[in-house]
Amino acid sequence: MLGVCYYPEHWPESWWEDDARRMREVGISFVRIAEFAWSRIEPAPGRFDLDWLDRAVDLLHRHGLKVVMCTPTATPPKWLMDLHPDIAPMDAEGRVRGFGSRRHYTFSSEVYFDESRRIVEIIAKRYGAHPGVVGWQTDNEYGCHDTVLSYSPVDRTAFQAWLRRRYQSPDRLDEAWGNVFWSMETPSFDAVALPVGAVTETSPAARLEYRRFASEQVVAYDRMQVEIIRKHSPGRFVTHNFMGFFTEFDHWPFGEHLDLASWDSYPIGFAERFPFSEPEHARWAETSHPDIAPFHHDLYRGVGRGRWWVMEQQPGPVNWAPWNPVPKPGQIRLFTWEALAHGAEVVSYFRWRQAPFGQEQMHAGLNRPDRTLSPGGEEASTVGRELATIGALPASGKAPVALVFDYEACWILEIQPQGKDFDYRELVFRWYEAIRRFGLDVDIVPPGADLAAYRAVVVPTLPYASEAAVAAFEASNAPILFGPRTGSKTRHYAIPEGLPPGPLASLIPVRVTQVSSLRPGLTKPVEGAVAGLAMRWIDHVEIKDAKARVLSEVVDPAYRIPAVIAGPRGWYVTTWPDADLLTGTMRGFLEAAGLELMDLPEAIRIRRRGALTFAFNYGPQTYRVPAPEDAVFLLGARELPAQGVACWR
Ligand code: GAL
Repeated sequence: MLGVCYYPEHWPESWWEDDARRMREVGISFVRIAEFAWSRIEPAPGRFDLDWLDRAVDLLHRHGLKVVMCTPTATPPKWLMDLHPDIAPMDAEGRVRGFGSRRHYTFSSEVYFDESRRIVEIIAKRYGAHPGVVGWQTDNEYGCHDTVLSYSPVDRTAFQAWLRRRYQSPDRLDEAWGNVFWSMETPSFDAVALPVGAVTETSPAARLEYRRFASEQVVAYDRMQVEIIRKHSPGRFVTHNFMGFFTEFDHWPFGEHLDLASWDSYPIGFAERFPFSEPEHARWAETSHPDIAPFHHDLYRGVGRGRWWVMEQQPGPVNWAPWNPVPKPGQIRLFTWEALAHGAEVVSYFRWRQAPFGQEQMHAGLNRPDRTLSPGGEEASTVGRELATIGALPASGKAPVALVFDYEACWILEIQPQGKDFDYRELVFRWYEAIRRFGLDVDIVPPGADLAAYRAVVVPTLPYASEAAVAAFEASNAPILFGPRTGSKTRHYAIPEGLPPGPLASLIPVRVTQVSSLRPGLTKPVEGAVAGLAMRWIDHVEIKDAKARVLSEVVDPAYRIPAVIAGPRGWYVTTWPDADLLTGTMRGFLEAAGLELMDLPEAIRIRRRGALTFAFNYGPQTYRVPAPEDAVFLLGARELPAQGVACWR
């Protein structure tokens, strides 16, 4: 169940044999290769050198290692960029984002689409039937370094064509977007400009459509690669390595054409970048926050429809966060077991050996540049030995709680935040954290997913609810907890008729009459059955259903507004709750749903995989795990030390 990312092209060939042998010693079975190797595969247009890659694949195979082959399209070589400069993306200010690092292409480029098709075909034909190749990864981290949205003339032409197909006539587009506002009406599709570079804010409807367009392009580009691979490499899986806290394209439709999802887990780097408070940053700096990796495990298990890997696991300090501490001893082992506990099929470390050259020379590997195991490498070996004793892990079942995650929600709230700090990812993360503090497992699902199997459904917010989403909520037997701004926009970025929550009026027992965003430090007490503070946002609502109970109110000397409302079909929270209000609300809601809750310390998390229960300790204090008297421990014991992992049956 362990893998590693390996770059044979970075090392003398005389080292490869020893590398492969030592990978086996660590307990590694899968090796991902070649995702950045285009300049070595095709050094000049049409001149190929694949012999070195043949030798690498053969050698790994000879050592019993299974190869995950990649397409090299994340790094178009210099000669290609010189031949076709308009492959390069352009930023919103019209500056070319050119050659010199990676991902220097726009998804709108037809030239690049064709060039990609060509190189993917060559690799897929060459290695598709190789007995050592068990699976494929397309490209590398689509969208990394902010590369989904590009604003070049090539993008403009592609967007115009996309709009023409969707709207057929400029009048329909004008009508849908409300272009009568500020005389934005368009005479023809050729006249549509990209929604950037204007004097002030461009049309929110146009920006939302641009994001949908860009997202669809990513999916279509990947589908092209996957179709070629499937043709030449039957029986092998195809995946892509997605990222953390990354919402620039919609991963739900993308996942549909993959065999499994995978993602790149750098929990300490992500924690460093997350908008935590300063005390939280200090607390989690060398361990990460205990929900950062799990949140993504649960998300990508959903995207992969149950099948997923960690394709890149942080092995030690990284190089790209503002600060990059050495993880606490034991933390790399913890991350690995935690991914497995959440259902990962394989955890693959990035990378085998730290490169002493290039952009990532300060990024650890399982080995130091001097070819000896790093502390992370030692911990990976420990997991390798533990896995060898424990054997295969059971399948992970459905969680009791579903959390609805929506990429469009993120775009909508970025386009017009209305309050500067209304950050979708932060909101969802906090709600997820609140559920997991009660010791519950969570499945992250798209809007419109079948909710039949769940005991409780949580929707931190969903500004635009599609017909499918509304139908799924209406069909749900489980109670649903909705957060502020749900149902506040239509598909074309307008306020719904009859006011928010628009199409969710049958489930959410309020009507929103005005909204208020609150600057940092401006909070209002919330009093009642659950108490705390209202921050950042308040939906001022009137109650529409006589059967709804107002559990708590926002209290201002001049007025009182419902804060938490329990309706007969759904609960609604009108505000961005502080930690107390969120915990209290979540507790009330989950208990009303009939779930049994634990109260876990902030550094402890529990997760079940089949009949196994795992516990993880991110903190410095020993914790006594809540295992039954007759529990049989496969890992650890009742006393869970700092950075410890326990697993019992
Ligand atoms: C990932 C990327 C890898 C490497 C790694 C460093 O985002 O896929 O190629 O750059 O980060 O942490």
